[in-house]
Amino acid sequence: MNAPDTAPKALKDAATVTEVTHWTDRLFSFRVERPRSLRFRSGEFVMLGLPGDDGKPILRAYSIASPSWDDELEFYSIKVADGPLTSRLQHIEPGDDIILRPKPTGTLVLDALLPGKRLWLFATGTGIAPFASLMRDPETYEQYDEVVVMHTCREVAELDYGRELVESLPEDPLIGEFVGDKLKYYATTTQEESPRMGRITDNLTSGRVFDDLGLPPITPESDRAMVCGSLAFNQDMKTILEGYGLREGANSKPAEYVVEKAFVG
Ligand code: A2P
Repeated sequence: MNAPDTAPKALKDAATVTEVTHWTDRLFSFRVERPRSLRFRSGEFVMLGLPGDDGKPILRAYSIASPSWDDELEFYSIKVADGPLTSRLQHIEPGDDIILRPKPTGTLVLDALLPGKRLWLFATGTGIAPFASLMRDPETYEQYDEVVVMHTCREVAELDYGRELVESLPEDPLIGEFVGDKLKYYATTTQEESPRMGRITDNLTSGRVFDDLGLPPITPESDRAMVCGSLAFNQDMKTILEGYGLREGANSKPAEYVVEKAFVG
């Protein structure tokens, strides 16, 4: 006799949605039950999606935004009105099933970096997702004295998901003691007035972020970096980081920085 939780699901690799939060009319996050066999390293991504009209799955890469110790998986997504997946995914509700291929991979992992003192996490838009995972992983704080998150969006409301998370962490009952005062947050907007403005690239090259946070400039001896945003942002950041003397790393060959493209729609 089958127990109810072993009954076959209608979809292959199904995961049931537990929570959906709409942050703006263009951004939402959602949580799903974690398949029991799924192990991943904070910062990795999986393929997820929904069945298409022809029955074939429509899958996209999504960074896992929750930490590796969490019982559930969290994702953070853009909504694209005519996007094949997100036009439909934005309507999911608790109890619905999505498709989740349980094969995590990616380069934004602590293992791809050589040991260092300060970890910089540079994100635009939904590129904050893998860092939402790393920011909640005690290992991040065990390996680094300081963790600096720079996040830039066009508008203030687009920063809410990341800001609420960062602000909650020092008080978090599970990982607050690891975070302590190690986590620094530097969020800017580019197209709406806010207390801090400007592109990440400009705030680095002008030196403004170092002045504002009271930090020394980035060096290959002490600083490590992870970059996640649009193709153009990633490219510009590579140029800047290489200019500081940092070299790109990978799982197979750790170095001083790693890059990955954020999911775009
Ligand atoms: P900007 O408004 O000046 O273009 P998008 O929604 O286009 O992906 O952009 C998200 C954020 O990333 C925006 O604040 C945008 O600034 C910024 N951005 C886009 N391209 C780059 C780049 N090449 N270098 C730095 N920041 C960028």
